[in-house]
Amino acid sequence: MVKVGIIGAGRIGKVHIESICTGVRNAQIVTVADPYMTEETAAWIRSMGDIHVTKDYKEILGDADIDAVIICSSTDTHSIISVEAIEAGKHVFCEKPIDHDIDKINKVIEALKKTNVKYQVGFNRRFDHNFKTVKEAVVGGKIGTPHIIKVTSRDPEPPSPEYAKVSGGMFLDMTIHDFDMVRYLAGCDAVEIYVQAAVLVDEKIGEAGDVATAVITLKMENGAIAIIDNSRKAAYGYDQRVEVFGSGGMAAASNDSPSTVVISDSQGVTGEKPLYFFLERYMGSFREEMNQFIQAIEEDTDTPLGVMDGLKPVLMGLAAKKSMEEHRPVAL
Ligand SMILES: NC(=O)c1ccc[n+]([C@@H]2O[C@H](COP(=O)([O-])OP(=O)(O)OC[C@H]3O[C@@H](n4cnc5c(N)ncnc54)[C@H](O)[C@@H]3O)[C@@H](O)[C@H]2O)c1
Repeated sequence: MVKVGIIGAGRIGKVHIESICTGVRNAQIVTVADPYMTEETAAWIRSMGDIHVTKDYKEILGDADIDAVIICSSTDTHSIISVEAIEAGKHVFCEKPIDHDIDKINKVIEALKKTNVKYQVGFNRRFDHNFKTVKEAVVGGKIGTPHIIKVTSRDPEPPSPEYAKVSGGMFLDMTIHDFDMVRYLAGCDAVEIYVQAAVLVDEKIGEAGDVATAVITLKMENGAIAIIDNSRKAAYGYDQRVEVFGSGGMAAASNDSPSTVVISDSQGVTGEKPLYFFLERYMGSFREEMNQFIQAIEEDTDTPLGVMDGLKPVLMGLAAKKSMEEHRPVAL
């Protein structure tokens, strides 16, 4: 049994608490820490099991009984807490992104060099049942040599302008998942990136210094071309599709809906909208990424997504910003 401490009990912290308490094998939560823990959240956590609740995450780092730490706090704390947890000898699962600052990610890389602890980054979409099947088709040679990779990633609602201001921008906050998806499906890194972006969804997002619509093209190491299209608002809901087109065929995943029922009548033919947002769409993938983290600890194997997989999408996000600002392709 791997004993776990969770740092941060906001939206994603609660997702991991719920999945560990209800579906992750061989893991037990000992403590959850959050400096802004409300009574309501503390009561919910206690209702999930015999879990100690604290406002001080250092209690987790100092507890010899805890094997692994799951970092779900705000982004600006990830790299600092990662280094502290690694130095305390804990295995670490860190939510994306590790940081927006490459120097700070390098400190995590340096800390890991001195230990044997496991480190995994929370790019959960690799564990999604649809995208995993597309990847298996590509690796199994079913579509031949990949030529074009397409990722459509559109949110149902834009974030508030206040959030946009502190999020690091759309490329580091949202597209970062798509950069990871492109690396995952291509099986290699990108060598060049070019961005067209605009403020079409809400001008207040523009006033906050961000964009909300983008088309990004990438040249991959294996010669394939990738296209990511992003919007912060799709009127019909959370649009999450991928496609890999190759010399021998194509593998494509469409959206998940609450049901596949299609109603045909005199007005037309209609089906259900996609599942609302990431909590609805990706719950299975959050559980599976945690299963694989725990399994890597138990079996002493590599985690499926290491610290370099955390670093590279951040480099792609920074290059995307540069391409947008300088209106030119940027080498990676
Ligand atoms: N993988 C995904 O799909 C996914 C989805 C959502 C969020 N995230 C990432 O997870 C992180 C948290 O996002 P969220 O949406 O849950 O935000 P949130 O604001 O709902 O929760 C963050 C929590 O961290 C707590 N916190 C802040 N400083 C802390 C500290 N020093 N110690 C312990 N707790 C601390 C806050 O009190 C808050 O409760 C972000 O980095 C975000 O990018 C990932």
